[in-house]
Amino acid sequence: MRRKQLIGTLAGVSLLLLSGAAILKISDRSGKSDAGGEALVAVNVPQLTGAALQGQDLFQKNCVACHGENASGRNGSGPPLVHKIYEPGHHADGSFFQAVARGVRAHHWPFGNMPPVENVTGREVEKIVAYVRTLQRANGIY
Ligand code: HEC
Repeated sequence: MRRKQLIGTLAGVSLLLLSGAAILKISDRSGKSDAGGEALVAVNVPQLTGAALQGQDLFQKNCVACHGENASGRNGSGPPLVHKIYEPGHHADGSFFQAVARGVRAHHWPFGNMPPVENVTGREVEKIVAYVRTLQRANGIY
């Protein structure tokens, strides 16, 4: 009798564990199905100094959520800024100031509009531009 009960309990517990694992698996898969947030390009980061180094810090605080680590893009959120489209000939430094101050209407990518980024000053954008241009040069964009 007691043995049967014990077996019953064990069976119940293992069933619970199994269904728990199944639920975890399902939620894991659903997490992967919506655009995963992975980088969109590979970026080499050179030794950073001066304004570019400060710009990296500002980028981490204000832009990384959408533009990804090292401006490599974030699938589902924002484009890589280390990309031919954003070389100085196509997007001069002024487009960075404008993007931050006024936001950007989606036109190159399927990620929606970029909202204005509050509390980032012009001097800070200058440093972010120095950072992005350094990354672009180091990765053969121009
Ligand atoms: C909430 C998400 C988000 C944040 C935060 C964000 N961006 Fe963007 N950004 C975007 C998206 C999306 C686009 C692409 C729009 C398109 O062309 O489809 C974009 C485009 C740009 C462009 C291209 C502008 C143009 O004229 O086409 C620049 C430059 C830029 N972002 C700089 C920045 C900088 C610098 C920061 C941080 C201070 C920043 N972004 C923060 C989402 C974001």
